[in-house]
Amino acid sequence: MTNFTPNQTAYELLLERLTSERHTWLVTGVAGFIGSNLLEALLKLDQQVVGLDNFATGYQRNLDEVRTLVNADQWGRFTFIEGDIRKLEDCRRGCEGVEHVLHQAALGSVPRSLADPITTNATNIDGFLNMLVAARDAEVKSFTYAASSSTYGDHPALPKVEDVIGKPLSPYAVTKFVNELYADVFARSYGFTAIGLRYFNVFGPRQDPNGAYAAVIPKWTAAMIADEDIFINGDGETSRDFCFVANAIQANLLAATASTAEARNQIYNVAVGDRTTLNQLFEALRETLAANGVLYLKEPLYRDFRAGDVRHSQAHVGKGRALLGYVPRHSIRAGIICAMPWYLSLKHQAN
Ligand SMILES: NC(=O)c1ccc[n+]([C@@H]2O[C@H](COP(=O)([O-])OP(=O)(O)OC[C@H]3O[C@@H](n4cnc5c(N)ncnc54)[C@H](O)[C@@H]3O)[C@@H](O)[C@H]2O)c1
Repeated sequence: MTNFTPNQTAYELLLERLTSERHTWLVTGVAGFIGSNLLEALLKLDQQVVGLDNFATGYQRNLDEVRTLVNADQWGRFTFIEGDIRKLEDCRRGCEGVEHVLHQAALGSVPRSLADPITTNATNIDGFLNMLVAARDAEVKSFTYAASSSTYGDHPALPKVEDVIGKPLSPYAVTKFVNELYADVFARSYGFTAIGLRYFNVFGPRQDPNGAYAAVIPKWTAAMIADEDIFINGDGETSRDFCFVANAIQANLLAATASTAEARNQIYNVAVGDRTTLNQLFEALRETLAANGVLYLKEPLYRDFRAGDVRHSQAHVGKGRALLGYVPRHSIRAGIICAMPWYLSLKHQAN
């Protein structure tokens, strides 16, 4: 019998259970930011993991880093398939013998989708449908997928509640909304279990700081470390519910293993439930770096608002709390402090 204290959360109980129960998981997009963090968490729990990635935006170095963070036995439970979700056969290979699918592979970034909607559509919609078909045919127990807060589109209400959405503001947002529609239809038509996690600006180790489509936290932190200029799109009062990756891992594991009928075939916000403006974020990063001995003395440079961007974003996380027992353990501050050694290690690698 499990010994637990009355204060243990659903997640703590699940972690305890998983250490003595081995399951087989497929993580698509495993060489990417969130995928490689899921891989690390699952291997540390002694789970069996299959990973699928085509390295479109992911890196071998992310897999290599995970290898250094787990022991040899744990790494031995990982099988990597270099494959493309736009090919049904690759999806079928990935799903073979798998119990839980954590589908992360997609082309992220609103600006990327505006620059090249066709490739974003092919990966995020055709690829998603291939994954659904492969997972359905493999009779997996659960299919948890990366949805997005961009689905709230132009709806002004704050905080965002799962069933009140607006019109999408970018091709990327369209693709993520279509994912939800397809998942729902598969659940209704084929008795399939699909759970969508609407991530809100996830950040943490292994999130790519480079390139035109880099997310704001790794981009700014790397720029501060290199003493480069930082540009803020708009007046800096644009706000986001920044979510440390450990919270997203928690949501994935709780969703995949959810056993009650009402918790399955749902969409959940994955965030903290707070709102931080870009100006506040700039100061938080500057302060955390200073506490680590890196001083950034420049002021940010303001420029035009970016097309397709939502002005404010903040999640209501009550549904995940009620149905999954999701309780975010990291605030944005705590997440930045946890992630900082990783950003600083990039500096040392570069030197
Ligand atoms: N990071 C965020 O803040 C955030 C917010 C909302 C939603 N999401 C979603 O979460 C998921 C993971 O995002 P991330 O931030 O880790 O991005 P990422 O770019 O680091 O990871 C995506 C991974 O998918 C892989 N991939 C892309 N196309 C593929 C294809 N055709 N076949 C196989 N693999 C392919 C990439 O190589 C990469 O490793 C994505 O679905 C993204 O849309 C992320």
